[in-house]
Amino acid sequence: MDREAFQERFGLIGESAALKQVIDKVIQVADTDITILLEGESGVGKDITAKAIHEVSKRKNENMVIVNCGAIPEGIIESELFGHEKGAFTGAHEAREGYFEKADGGTIFLDEIGDTPPNVQVKLLRVLESGEYFRVGSSKMRTTDVRVIAATNKDLWNLVQEEKFREDLYYRLDTVKVKLPPLRERPDDIIPIFRTFVTEFSAKYDSVFKGFSDDAKELLISYRWPGNVRELRNVAEQLVVLEKSQFIDTEKLRKYLKGRQHTGSADNLPMLADQHKNTSSNGAFGDGEQQLIYRALVELRNDISELKKMLGTFLYSTFSQKNLKALPQNIQDEVQHSNMSDLDIDVDDTADEDIGVQSFAEADISEEREEQDEKIFNRFFNTGTIPSIEKTEQFLIEQALQKFEGNRRKASEALGISERTLYRKLDQYDLQ
Ligand SMILES: Nc1ncnc2c1ncn2[C@@H]1O[C@H](COP(=O)(O)OP(=O)(O)O)[C@@H](O)[C@H]1O
Ligand SMILES: [Mg+2]
Repeated sequence: MDREAFQERFGLIGESAALKQVIDKVIQVADTDITILLEGESGVGKDITAKAIHEVSKRKNENMVIVNCGAIPEGIIESELFGHEKGAFTGAHEAREGYFEKADGGTIFLDEIGDTPPNVQVKLLRVLESGEYFRVGSSKMRTTDVRVIAATNKDLWNLVQEEKFREDLYYRLDTVKVKLPPLRERPDDIIPIFRTFVTEFSAKYDSVFKGFSDDAKELLISYRWPGNVRELRNVAEQLVVLEKSQFIDTEKLRKYLKGRQHTGSADNLPMLADQHKNTSSNGAFGDGEQQLIYRALVELRNDISELKKMLGTFLYSTFSQKNLKALPQNIQDEVQHSNMSDLDIDVDDTADEDIGVQSFAEADISEEREEQDEKIFNRFFNTGTIPSIEKTEQFLIEQALQKFEGNRRKASEALGISERTLYRKLDQYDLQ
């Protein structure tokens, strides 16, 4: 298969020399059984490359099992990978096969392999060398025939130096290393990838993209893209949805770039989903994943109101006007400008939920609310694409404000956040 055909087939866009080199190397080794280590920052395309390798390999008609080693709790990773016998530990009511067993004959993709705990690294080394492994709680040796693709966004050699990763396992994995360069090191790819995303999202949202100024184009190319292609994709989607039919200049574009230096929060969601997705190879999000993400969003909301509650109580109980002066000026301002209702610890009825004194009627209401949220959520996300939390938040805020014609009290009520939080977010996202 030649490079163009490969790129076309797997949607790997890019014209830079760096990407071409990577693809040539991948094509060379894909249909052998050799172990491949994909190295690169988050969002550079490790997943998509791993799936492509499996798809062109001799094993393409067998399972590809995807394991996010970083997302599985340390206590269960061994039994997830190798399976367990009935009664092997509390809660092991049934014997269960592990991922290496499921992948027998096919491919196993060990994502974030650098996060594997040391006791499991020994067992990985063994299975990679000889195909041999034991289920947890069993002394019967089993064998499996798997092709291994591993990925890491950490420098594995550094981890070896820090004695967090076994040197022998490192050498075992390092047979063929493919380093996917970050987007900022292949600026030639930025515009072609961006164009493709914009076209894709314009069709999806039935929107028209009016193009962008030369300056904005320059900015796209010179921006650091800490979240790499994943971030570029989010920005393209935001522009298509939120700047519908607007010509994009630097000022508009900057709104979507600034404050996006941290990729943390947006990255957590796919990890959660990956964990659940371990055995699916088609990349689409099933109902289960939607539920997981929904739950993550609800938890996030709960965490935030919990934090607000704690902070409010803390400020209320700790700071008299006198020792308030000991705080930095900006925090003093915050406290002084916020009356109690702003901090959500007011004593009116809406605060009851926050302090945990729910009456039955209120519990019903919040249950109803959750059901309703879930329905809306499912309607939004049944396309299989997961936008970032930030983007979703902005989008929802805009929708609410539109619906209530700019009435912030009603909008915040509908969104289930305090008016104060809404103000902060309007500011944060530069929304008017
Ligand atoms: N060269 C590329 N062309 C088009 N889309 C890409 C490219 N590289 C990555 N992507 C897309 O960017 C997102 C992140 O890629 P992914 O493979 O999940 O990255 P990683 O596993 O390195 O974090 C996915 O939506 C993927 O389809
Ligand atoms: Mg990945």
